[in-house]
Amino acid sequence: MVKETLLEIKNLHVAIGNREVVKGVNLTLHKSDIMVLLGQNGSGKTSLIMSIMGFPSFKVTQGDILFKGKSIVDMPIDQRARLGIGVLFQRPPTVRGVKLRQLVNICSKDKNFDLDKNAQELAMTNFLDRDLNLGFSGGETKRSELLQVIAQDPEIVLLDEPESGVDLENIAIMGNIINDFLKSKGRAALIITHTGYILDYVDTDLGCVLAENMLHCTQNPRKIINDIRKYGYEKCLTCQKLNKS
Ligand SMILES: Nc1ncnc2c1ncn2[C@@H]1O[C@H](COP(=O)(O)OP(=O)(O)OP(=O)(O)O)[C@@H](O)[C@H]1O
Ligand SMILES: [Mg+2]
Repeated sequence: MVKETLLEIKNLHVAIGNREVVKGVNLTLHKSDIMVLLGQNGSGKTSLIMSIMGFPSFKVTQGDILFKGKSIVDMPIDQRARLGIGVLFQRPPTVRGVKLRQLVNICSKDKNFDLDKNAQELAMTNFLDRDLNLGFSGGETKRSELLQVIAQDPEIVLLDEPESGVDLENIAIMGNIINDFLKSKGRAALIITHTGYILDYVDTDLGCVLAENMLHCTQNPRKIINDIRKYGYEKCLTCQKLNKS
């Protein structure tokens, strides 16, 4: 059965000011694909996600981003979110005066979304009436982000280091919730990780490496992580397994 193509990134170049932070990325995600994106600090992973989401400081200078076959590069962020693209930010902002409960209610398009149950599963019940991320610990912030993503129920979710700063027990809780969400709904995901811990809960054969701002290789992410441990990221630069522009 041919899977529906959700996201197509074609020869994408992105600049912040004069600095090119994405240099010719090609990437395709189909319905229910789960892709793991690896790469050194500063290689452009977050920039790629911010570009897909449409943050204005990330200027697309060349190439295209298509969602279900239609270009979204000229669409504002809110429209992309409504189309079905969601993001769990690496470093989400603090928003004074907006309670987590209010934001989750805005995110949730399903009137039957059970906020209490979902908040309880993520141990977020006591945070619902606090200002968004104000004074939240690193792990609490990630769980708050995940609650918002689950409420939004996007068709494709961009998870920027969901397990970083999260303790081992909470990684298990978050990992299982992410896996349930993706599998039960057949959602697609692009998951950025450095450690691969998330793979203990969300398994996939699709992995790739962003090196020198360009995708270099695609294969099983556990194998890539083992190779990086053995040979370092430098070897990724010579891996040509993904077609480049
Ligand atoms: N607003 C900005 N102004 C200038 N440079 C920026 C800006 N945002 C990102 N960059 C630069 O773009 C490059 C890519 O950053 P990005 O955050 O995408 O990396 P990353 O792969 O997500 O790294 P990490 O693994 O550390 O999260 C970095 O060198 C960073 O300093
Ligand atoms: Mg990053």
